[in-house]
Amino acid sequence: MEKLRNTVYYSDNQLKNWIENESLNETLATKADAIRRNIYGDDVYIRGLIEFSNYCKNDCFYCGIRKSNKNVKRYRLTPKEILECTDIGYKLGFRTYVMQSGEDTYYRDDMIVKIIETVKNKHPDTAITLSMGEKSYESYKRFYEAGADRYLLREETSDREHYNKLHPSFMSFDNRRESLWQLKEIGYQVGGGFMVDSPYQSTENLIEDLRFLQELEPDMIGIGPYLTSKDTPFSNFPDGSFKKTLRLVSILRILFPYALIPATTALGTINPLGREMGLKAGANVLMPNLSPIMYRKDYQLYDNKICTGDEAAECKACLSLRVDKSGYKIVCDKGDVITRQKDF
Ligand code: 5AD
Ligand code: FES
Repeated sequence: MEKLRNTVYYSDNQLKNWIENESLNETLATKADAIRRNIYGDDVYIRGLIEFSNYCKNDCFYCGIRKSNKNVKRYRLTPKEILECTDIGYKLGFRTYVMQSGEDTYYRDDMIVKIIETVKNKHPDTAITLSMGEKSYESYKRFYEAGADRYLLREETSDREHYNKLHPSFMSFDNRRESLWQLKEIGYQVGGGFMVDSPYQSTENLIEDLRFLQELEPDMIGIGPYLTSKDTPFSNFPDGSFKKTLRLVSILRILFPYALIPATTALGTINPLGREMGLKAGANVLMPNLSPIMYRKDYQLYDNKICTGDEAAECKACLSLRVDKSGYKIVCDKGDVITRQKDF
């Protein structure tokens, strides 16, 4: 089936006004919510997040689990532990698992393939989303052939100079973008995204990001505010703007009516009702944590992350309540992206 995502065009000037104008939150949210209801109704998809390793060979200046942060207690889940998380998730109604980690070379491709195959054998009616950073084309392909369905890899920024201000010189802007195209070509449902108000980010950078995403046409787009992380070189930069992040969620829904857009943990961290407001601003996905509680607090990309002490079941119950109260409903299925048949 040919996918036509109906990416809607707006001028740079229009986007700039939407991004910068503090008085537009409600207008944008109303417009975005109407678009989302038209396509996805009041459905909210849930993804069970398994943070299976916080080892990382990268050193992004904004991230709390960067290689140079010696204050992190590092952990790795065994394949058995990962499988246990998926079993718990399955019983709670999760039909998508997001396997997320730092860039950890300890897990050889064979190991990841085995984990994917085991999960898929045991729970064939689920989707597996990988979020493990940059790998080779061959690795992406092997994981896909083993049964992985989706891959999340935020581009972080679509401006080369800005990228170089956020990352050490051994990390590559070109490789990141190339990875996204490779993942698409292989057949994954692909997720991109960026932080709002990351250090040195301009409105023009954000517009460039929207343009890049319009070119890529990802199935999923994850954004959240930049949040201060105390043990990083950026520890002096303030948290990003909550309201601007909400406007960007709405802008994304307006530009990408069909996209799966999460109300992220970062949004819930910057404001206690952030995820609810994210849903009302156009988001339609939530990604609660299924990781074992004993490791939760060690996966801190930024300070004060929420839900580090809650069992998966409590988290699910808490989220259901929050979603209901916001006027939506949680759906327990795979929650694939809706695509439009091309009209001829
Ligand atoms: N604040 C907010 N988001 C962050 N991420 C990493 N560090 C931070 C931070 N300090 C985001 C990045 C990454 C995703 C997993 O988390 O965009 O892709
Ligand atoms: Fe985890 Fe509320 S969503 S405790």
